[in-house]
Amino acid sequence: MTDNIISTVTVLGSGIMGAGIAQVSAMGGMDTWLYDVNDAVLEKARSGIGGSLKKLAEKGRIAPDGADAIMARIHFTTDFEAAVIPTDFVIEAIPEKLDLKQKTFKELERLTRPGVTLGTNTSSLMISAIAEPVQDKGRVIGVHFFNPVPIMRLIEIVLGPATSPTALSATEALARCMGKETVRVRESPGFATSRINALIGLEAFRMLEAGIASAEDIDKALKLGLNHPMGPFEMADLVGLDTRSSTIRYLHKTLGETFRPSPLMEKLVEEGRLGRKTGRGVYTYDAKGNRIPDAAG
Ligand SMILES: NC(=O)c1ccc[n+]([C@@H]2O[C@H](COP(=O)([O-])OP(=O)(O)OC[C@H]3O[C@@H](n4cnc5c(N)ncnc54)[C@H](O)[C@@H]3O)[C@@H](O)[C@H]2O)c1
Repeated sequence: MTDNIISTVTVLGSGIMGAGIAQVSAMGGMDTWLYDVNDAVLEKARSGIGGSLKKLAEKGRIAPDGADAIMARIHFTTDFEAAVIPTDFVIEAIPEKLDLKQKTFKELERLTRPGVTLGTNTSSLMISAIAEPVQDKGRVIGVHFFNPVPIMRLIEIVLGPATSPTALSATEALARCMGKETVRVRESPGFATSRINALIGLEAFRMLEAGIASAEDIDKALKLGLNHPMGPFEMADLVGLDTRSSTIRYLHKTLGETFRPSPLMEKLVEEGRLGRKTGRGVYTYDAKGNRIPDAAG
């Protein structure tokens, strides 16, 4: 890497977000390493990215023969060192657990070249907390993508108190390569987007618990009455109820009672109803991810 020229990107975690981030990185021309803890999840990511590229080719958003070249730029691996040693920019997209992220960032500082930007896709945690075990805290920055990553246009850049101007300019350069718009936000639990989104989602769950309306009608009301592109329950199923629940528990701890967790959401998580990724959340989905009508429960 010279100045802000980023040619190799490493994405940690190949779940809902990591797979999408690796895809837009490869679409932006970067050599991309996608790391996860086992081959089965990497295979799922590979087929998800393949399917997404096929749809983009059908819509004319990439050249008909472009998918193979994009795919060839992604190296799927379970070898952490192989994934991070050659990198110019890391984006961590592992589960929303502070201790796990801290442990990972400590390793990242040890294995990457000094000065390489260490980005986190956390949806709520403080950048300074994730950077806590890192000696050069200027390298750590929030690079918050949105789901589905290939479609959503924004990256919310979250600045910790120590984040360096170099990390900020590298992140803005990376966003341009990926064709994304950016906003800058000072660190605060849930930043700008997750804080508001969690509140809307929580209020929808409280209304459902109180029997005010069905999930379908609350979703329909927000879409047709308030012009939201997606209802709050559709959104919760897309995000993953476990991920949403972790965010809400953290916002409750840091910002107070407004974010008290919903017992109904917690119950669905305990039952393994995590949303689209498990085939069932608020709604039920078939193997292809299509909603099964009238199956809200
Ligand atoms: N889901 C969303 O809509 C969304 C949106 C923005 C940000 N985020 C954030 O992105 C991050 C990832 O969320 P997700 O929805 O993709 O989660 P996910 O559960 O779909 O994927 C997480 C992946 O991380 C892997 N993993 C677990 N431990 C790991 C480790 N030590 N090293 C590498 N990989 C590991 C898991 O195998 C899994 O594939 C979280 O911080 C989340 O808050 C999520």
